[in-house]
Amino acid sequence: MSLRIAQAKSPDFVGKEVKIRGWVYRLRKQKENAFVLVRDDRGGVIQCIFPATSVAGLTIESSIEVTGVISQDARAPEGGYELKGREVRTYNIAGADYPIGEYQSDELLLDKRHLSLRTRRMVAIAKIRASVLDLGRRWFVDNGWMEVTAPIIVKGAVEGGSTLFKLKYFDQEAYLSQSAQLYLEAMIFSLGPVWSITPSFRAEKSRTVRHLAEFSHLEAEAPWVTLEDILGVQEKLVSHVIQNTIKQNAEELAYLKRDVTDLKKIEPPFERLSYNKAIEILKSKGFTVTEQDGSKREIRVGDDLNIDSERELTKDAGKPIFVIGYPIAVKPFYVKEDPEHKGTGLAADLLAPKGFGEITSGGMREDDIVSITERIKKEGLDPAAYDWYLDLRKYGSVPHGGFGLGIERLMRWITNVDDIKDTVLFPRTMSRVAP
Ligand code: 4AD
Ligand code: MG
Repeated sequence: MSLRIAQAKSPDFVGKEVKIRGWVYRLRKQKENAFVLVRDDRGGVIQCIFPATSVAGLTIESSIEVTGVISQDARAPEGGYELKGREVRTYNIAGADYPIGEYQSDELLLDKRHLSLRTRRMVAIAKIRASVLDLGRRWFVDNGWMEVTAPIIVKGAVEGGSTLFKLKYFDQEAYLSQSAQLYLEAMIFSLGPVWSITPSFRAEKSRTVRHLAEFSHLEAEAPWVTLEDILGVQEKLVSHVIQNTIKQNAEELAYLKRDVTDLKKIEPPFERLSYNKAIEILKSKGFTVTEQDGSKREIRVGDDLNIDSERELTKDAGKPIFVIGYPIAVKPFYVKEDPEHKGTGLAADLLAPKGFGEITSGGMREDDIVSITERIKKEGLDPAAYDWYLDLRKYGSVPHGGFGLGIERLMRWITNVDDIKDTVLFPRTMSRVAP
């Protein structure tokens, strides 16, 4: 039976013969001995020492099974254990032109992502990602929310028409879903608080370090809630995921050189900042916005926040900030208008500190059939595509709300990797659909 490398690196096996399986990660041949770093398929790495002759012909990424005796030596790389190889069985001798070496351009690593997934950096990121997803799921299950699955092929826009991916669906036109929200809204009337993680698609035409064309969307929706309830769920969820990820993945975060001192402080409550106050702050700092014709003017009430204004608002913050009460004009048709402040939406975005920017959007949903029909038309959308959605306002409407969290946005903050493309194993962007 073969052991995982992490298991074999234990005092229990010192002096004993073990078998490990893996791939040649680094290879250094000297006159008498060859030093082979072997990695396995869960990130384990150990140095194996062989007589040089017994590994002639071995190449980087060849798949092998090694039988040998574990010894402990403080000087050994990878944590003080090594394996004195007695026998090596080769499964596949890798081509000598393996394209991933120690120093590689980001572009090449992306072009060869099917192979660069084998680097320790990507393994660390994948492990953190698995924790983030698992912890998010667990939080909902433990708090009585029900998991559901919404369709990916849909007839209606949720987040505006300009980022829709069109699809020929038999003899009709359909789209790839931008958000499960409208379907989750349909579910809450019989299922109560629900959540899902589904891929969402956005034909984002800008190249940025925080936009993907396909991302993992964690969404939640519940009946009989207030905006404050929805914010409470988000701050608890985000804090839970972060606190446990930094515990479970301390090793991986250290490998990525992520100093987690700031993440340790992420606990509820998060600051609530009104949109109007946010604009005031930005104004007082002389913040400007660029008009379509390229001219600049002072930011004012009515403007949406962008990555630059979000960075300005959060650059000194230790914790995420909820910005609350955006003008309904800058938010989608479904955002509920505050009955006490006309023109203002009962909606909030959660901005991660230090300029990481928006990680969630959510709030209360417009539950009045007349207002929402008008808003759909105003957005230039066809109410016919929303007939079923409008039924939800016709038959037993209740106050309800929810939010959507971008897993990769959260990952980027937790890992502090430069580009969102590195938070997902096979990124999709405007210029990349392969591998
Ligand atoms: O802000 P968004 O567009 O809101 C919605 O889709 C709502 N319908 C969600 C809901 O209330 N159920 O998207 C939600 C989050 C954003 O805050 C961001 O974290 C992420 O999804 N996101 C993206 N992540 C990566 N690449 C993109 N192109 C993203 N667009 C949105
Ligand atoms: Mg948003």
